[in-house]
Amino acid sequence: MATAKIANLFNVAAPEQAVVEIRQPGLCTPAADPHYQFNLLVLKKVMMWLSENAPVKNLFILGDAGTGKTSLILEVAARLGIEVWSMSCSGKTRFNDLVGTLTIDESGATRFVDGPLAAAARSGGVFLANEITRMEAGEQMRLVDILDGRARLTIPETGEVVIPHPNFRVAVTGNSGGFGDDTGAYAGERRGSLAFFDRFIKLVLPPFEETDEVGLVMRYAPSLREDIVLGMVRLARDIRKAFVSNGGGLQVTLSTRSLIAWARLTEEYAHFSGVDPIREALHDTLLNGAPTDDRSTVLELFDNWLNGGGRS
Ligand SMILES: Nc1ncnc2c1ncn2[C@@H]1O[C@H](COP(=O)(O)OP(=O)(O)OP(=O)(O)O)[C@@H](O)[C@H]1O
Ligand SMILES: [Mg+2]
Repeated sequence: MATAKIANLFNVAAPEQAVVEIRQPGLCTPAADPHYQFNLLVLKKVMMWLSENAPVKNLFILGDAGTGKTSLILEVAARLGIEVWSMSCSGKTRFNDLVGTLTIDESGATRFVDGPLAAAARSGGVFLANEITRMEAGEQMRLVDILDGRARLTIPETGEVVIPHPNFRVAVTGNSGGFGDDTGAYAGERRGSLAFFDRFIKLVLPPFEETDEVGLVMRYAPSLREDIVLGMVRLARDIRKAFVSNGGGLQVTLSTRSLIAWARLTEEYAHFSGVDPIREALHDTLLNGAPTDDRSTVLELFDNWLNGGGRS
């Protein structure tokens, strides 16, 4: 198996001699985003979870929308050649949807097609269940045998028994910790099963340092001036502090995802005549469709930034 230097592969401050094994990429290995920024401690934890001796083989990444939960798994897998089978869950997701379905092929014969869980278990990839905190507790509990790693996965439709591959791992993400959302920020979050979440390493992604976030945005929108990006990042941080999930009154927030989108739209709108690109892009990224009070609050913060000399 090939190896690569961790420092080069993930662009982090790892020791020169630290290396990691890389698998031969498959059809379901995600493509890497070269701008993705890893947090070293988080990366170490994810690599430990993927390692042969991982004490717990199930990983739950929780946190606000657009903070990089899903992309963390995809970006690590992309660089290590790991295949990922992912699925977004809702209140209607059933365990059977994860295992697979019977379909009728062109010749009229019925055929079982693996769902993401069966495919990952069979081939030793990662099964990534996004928004698992929206799934019903009873359906979550049907996963526990496979989470414990001792059980086989039986496919009822065919009677086949799948022996999970030793490299098989389960990652799940959610906007709440499995106890429902009491902030009102995320409709659809449910109270899950304590026994289910008990089987996971629970990871919260640390927020970016201001300078790191400025560097990140500048990589995605390199034509913007650094002082402009700094102002955008500061505004985003003020908005996040005022988000309901952090105890504030705003129902909208400017996540890393929307901050990058704001910066990239600003770059594009700079080519349009007759618009203020930053303001227009802020509307199109965040404010259109937001509650009226939230719009006024965010625009006030935006105008304060302008009047404070953030933009010349
Ligand atoms: N560390 C990071 N480096 C680079 N980009 C990032 C990072 N974190 C988040 N992003 C950006 O934010 C986008 C959204 O991230 P992602 O989809 O992983 O969020 P999420 O936490 O899973 O959100 P949701 O709760 O809505 O599913 C990414 O596509 C990427 O553009
Ligand atoms: Mg996600």
